[in-house]
Amino acid sequence: MPQVKTEPAPDPDSSEPLVKVRRIHRRDLNRTWEFLKLVFREVNRTTVEFQRPTSKKRFLERYEEKGVEQLLFVITVDRKEQIVGYAECAEDIIGADSWMNERYFRNREMHPLFVEELAVHPSYQGRGLGSFVMDQLEHLARVRGCSHLVLEVAENNERALQFYKARSFAKLDAAIFMAKKVVNDAEILPPRPLSASRK
Ligand SMILES: CC(C)(COP(=O)(O)OP(=O)(O)OC[C@H]1O[C@@H](n2cnc3c(N)ncnc32)[C@H](O)[C@@H]1OP(=O)(O)O)[C@@H](O)C(=O)NCCC(=O)NCCS
Repeated sequence: MPQVKTEPAPDPDSSEPLVKVRRIHRRDLNRTWEFLKLVFREVNRTTVEFQRPTSKKRFLERYEEKGVEQLLFVITVDRKEQIVGYAECAEDIIGADSWMNERYFRNREMHPLFVEELAVHPSYQGRGLGSFVMDQLEHLARVRGCSHLVLEVAENNERALQFYKARSFAKLDAAIFMAKKVVNDAEILPPRPLSASRK
């Protein structure tokens, strides 16, 4: 007989909140944006690329884009719902501003689920929530027949990098941001004495 996979029943004695996953609604957009700003405030201080949509306008546009899946992970505190996690993914490379080359994946017979965002509220990090978000994304990839999860992470976002490595993510042939120090010269030349008068 095939095994039926069931979720573990919540422990009624546990005082820990239950985290639920649901799809985002239009009415959630403002507070989700506030949530993302909070999560990425620290990360964006040190990374060369923004690790979240660069503007609220861009974030709001994502909601309208076809094929983008936005998931909220929520708990209820004092009868009020609180966002504690967020995931965004798509089967296609979305947005004219993406640097991703679709041919790279096609040539390798990869059918990725692109993970655009993965975020856990700073006060709830280190409690297994990120693992839950990742499990949900992997589950989506599996049920949709995707072959890989593909994401981008800054090398100096060490916590996230460790998190992905511990979950069997390996580096692709991705861009490395390089910089070379340029020795500067002043545009304006220094003062120069006039020659003695020839008169
Ligand atoms: C990366 C991130 C999603 C992980 O979420 P999380 O809820 O902390 O994840 P978990 O609790 O499931 O696992 C965290 C891991 O870090 C470890 N950890 C816990 N507390 C930690 C801490 N203070 N510092 C470093 N590692 C810690 C845990 O032991 C666990 O280890 P494991 O990988 O061996 O399981 C979360 O840190 C985050 O949202 N960061 C900011 C946004 C971000 O950078 N997103 C990724 C952009 S690409």
